[in-house]
Amino acid sequence: MRVFSAWIVLALAAFTAAAPTTHTVKIKETVNVPRGWTKRDEAPRDLTVDLRIALPQSNFPLLEQHLWEVSDPFNERYGAHLSQEEVNELIAPHPESVDLVNSWLAEHGLSGADIARSPASDWVKVRVPVGLAEEMLDAKYHVYEHSTGDTLVRTTSYSLPEHLHAHIELIQPTTLFSRFRASKATLHFDQAAQTSSTNTDAPAISVPSASGGTVDASCNTTITVTCLKELYNAVGYTPLVNSGNQVACTGYLDQFANLDDLQLFFADQVPAAVNSSFKLISINGGQNNQSEPGDEANLDTQFLFGITHPIPATFFTTAGSPPFIPDVLTPTDSNEPYLDWLDFILNTPNPPQTISTSYADDEQTVPPSFAQRVCQGFATLGAKGVSLTFSSGDGGVGDGDPDPATQECFTNDGRNKTEFVPEFPPSCPFVTAVGGTIHVPETAVDFSGGGFSNFFSRPSYQAAAVPGFLSTLVPGTYAGLFNPNGRGIPDVAAQADNFRIFFGGSPILIGGTSAASPTFAGFVSLLNDARIRAGKSPLGFLNPLIYSIGANAGLTGAFNDVTTGNNPGCGTPGFNATTGWDPVTGFGTPNFGVLKDIVLALP
Ligand SMILES: *[C@@H]1O[C@H](CO)[C@@H](O)[C@H](O)[C@H]1NC(C)=O
Ligand SMILES: *[C@@H]1O[C@H](CO)[C@@H](O)[C@H](O)[C@H]1NC(C)=O
Ligand SMILES: *[C@@H]1O[C@H](CO)[C@@H](O)[C@H](O)[C@H]1NC(C)=O
Ligand SMILES: *[C@@H]1O[C@H](CO)[C@@H](O)[C@H](O)[C@H]1NC(C)=O
Ligand SMILES: *[C@@H]1O[C@H](CO)[C@@H](O)[C@H](O)[C@H]1NC(C)=O
Repeated sequence: MRVFSAWIVLALAAFTAAAPTTHTVKIKETVNVPRGWTKRDEAPRDLTVDLRIALPQSNFPLLEQHLWEVSDPFNERYGAHLSQEEVNELIAPHPESVDLVNSWLAEHGLSGADIARSPASDWVKVRVPVGLAEEMLDAKYHVYEHSTGDTLVRTTSYSLPEHLHAHIELIQPTTLFSRFRASKATLHFDQAAQTSSTNTDAPAISVPSASGGTVDASCNTTITVTCLKELYNAVGYTPLVNSGNQVACTGYLDQFANLDDLQLFFADQVPAAVNSSFKLISINGGQNNQSEPGDEANLDTQFLFGITHPIPATFFTTAGSPPFIPDVLTPTDSNEPYLDWLDFILNTPNPPQTISTSYADDEQTVPPSFAQRVCQGFATLGAKGVSLTFSSGDGGVGDGDPDPATQECFTNDGRNKTEFVPEFPPSCPFVTAVGGTIHVPETAVDFSGGGFSNFFSRPSYQAAAVPGFLSTLVPGTYAGLFNPNGRGIPDVAAQADNFRIFFGGSPILIGGTSAASPTFAGFVSLLNDARIRAGKSPLGFLNPLIYSIGANAGLTGAFNDVTTGNNPGCGTPGFNATTGWDPVTGFGTPNFGVLKDIVLALP
C-alpha cells in the first residue's frame, strides 16, 4: 500500500511539473517610460539581477483595521501597537501563493538556496541572469539612460502565467524607473550665513503662540534650533536620554552625514550636545564617507538631532543603485534603495519610534503596484508604533519635471496632458507629509509641495478636512488638473528655508521641505519622550490624531494655522493656504506645549 501511494504522489508530481507548459501567459504590468529616459542597447543576457517577488499579504485588510484602531485617539485600543510576531503573521502570504510561486521558480531551475525570503515570506528574492529573467517574465530588458546620465536596466512590460497573477503582486526590477531625490530646493552660500546666528540688536518678533510670546528677530532670516524651539513653544523642555525613546533619519543617494560638521553645528547652536553623536546603521553596504559631506544628510542630522538631543539618534545610510557597467557580472542597479530600507526596518525588532525622510519622486514615475506595496510597508511600521514623516516636495503643485520650456507638467501615460504632479511617498496615506513655511510670522513657502494623489483615494481621516477645503474653491478651479478624491498632501508644515547648517566646515543657509520634515519629526520625538516617560505608548501613526485635533475647534492652538501664501507650479499659482487644512501647509506648524498636554491626556 505504501509503495503504491508513493507512486501516485510521484505521478501527480510529474503531472504537476508538466502542466505549466499549458499555462497561458498574460501581461502583468506595462508602463510608459517616464520623460527624461531614453532606451539604449539591449541588456546583456548574462548580467545578474536580484528579482524581488512580492506575494500578496492576504491579511493586510486586517492589519489595516488594527492600524486604524491603535492610531485613533477615540478608540479604546489607542496605543496598543502590534508586536513583530503579530505583524509578521498578518502580512504573511497565503500558503497556496507560496506553493505556486515555489513551483514556478522550480520550473525555471530555482529552488532551495537560490531563494531568499523575508521573515514573513511575503517577499521572495532570486538572483538570476537577465536572460533567465526575460524567459521567466516574457520580457525584454534594455539599458535606459536618463538625461542626467544615470542608467538603469529595465523593461516596460512583463508577463506571468495567468494562474500566478493572483499570487504575485509585483516583481522588480522590471518597470520601476523612479529616481528618488532629496527635497532641497534652495542652497545659499551667502554672506548672511557667515555671520553669527543671533542678532541681539533688533527687537524680538511678537508671536503669541511662541514660548514667551516672542521669537528672536534674527529668525526671520536665519533659522536655528533655538528659533524652532521658540517658534514651536518648546523652550526649556529637556528630554531624557534613557527612556527607551529613539529618533532617526534616513540617507540615500550617497548623502553622507559629516561628524566634524555636526560638532561645529552643535558648538554653534546646541552647546549641550557637543561631543554627542548618532549611531550609524548601514544598509546594503551604505557608506558614510567623511571626505564627502552631503548637504541633505548634514541638514537632516544636524537639525533633527539638534532639536531632540539627548534622545539616542540613528542615521540610516542605504546604498543606492550603482551605475550600470555592461561588462561586470556582479548584480547591478537591481534594487530600489527605498525597498532595501523598508525591508531592513520592517525586520528590526525595536525600531526608532520617530523617523524622518526627505527623499521622494513624482508619483507618476512609480508603478502603482509598487507604490501600493511600499505604502503597505509604511502602514505595517505604523501598526508597530513608528511615526514616519516625509518632506512633501519642493515644486509646489507641480513638483518634479515641469517642462523647462513651457513650465507645464505632463502626464506620463502617453496622453501628454498637463496635470499637477504629487510626490510619492508623501502621497501614501499611511505617512505624515510635511509642507513648508518661511519667515516670522509664518507664511507658506512658495515651493511647498502639495495637492492630491492620483493613486491613493481620500483616507477616512480626511473625510471632513479635505472637502472643507475643496468647498472654499471657486467651482471649476483647476478642473482636470488634480484628483479631488485623492489623498490630500501635506498633513502639517514646519519652517523650510534659511536653515543655518555646517557644511564642509562652514556655515551655509539651506532650504527645502527637506528642512521641514526633520523639524516636525524632532517635535514628534519630544512628544514621544513625554509619553514614554509617563509610561504611555509612543504615538505611532500620527494622522488620525492630527486630523481629530484639527477637527476639534477647542484644540486649535495645537497647530499654528498658516493662512497666507500659495504653492505655484505647472504654470499656475497653485493652491492658497487657508483657515484650517489646505494643500499647501496642511493644518499648519506644531505648538509643542499644547500638543504635549493633549498627548499626555490621551490613554
Ligand atoms: C520677515 O521678513 C519678511 C520678508 O522679508 C517681511 O515681510 C516681514 O515683515 C518680516 N517680519 C518682521 C516681523 O519683520
Ligand atoms: C568634548 O570633548 C573634548 C575632548 O575630549 C573636551 O575637551 C571637551 O571639554 C568636551 N566638551 C564637552 C562640552 O563635553
Ligand atoms: C571617500 O571619498 C574620497 C573622496 O571622494 C575617496 O577618495 C575615497 O575613496 C572614498 N572612500 C571610500 C571608502 O569610498
Ligand atoms: C507626446 O509628446 C512627445 C514628446 O514631446 C511626442 O513625441 C509624442 O508624439 C506626444 N504624444 C502624443 C499622443 O501627443
Ligand atoms: C487664491 O487667492 C487669490 C486672492 O484672493 C484668488 O484670486 C485666487 O483665485 C485664489 N486661488 C485659488 C486656487 O483658490
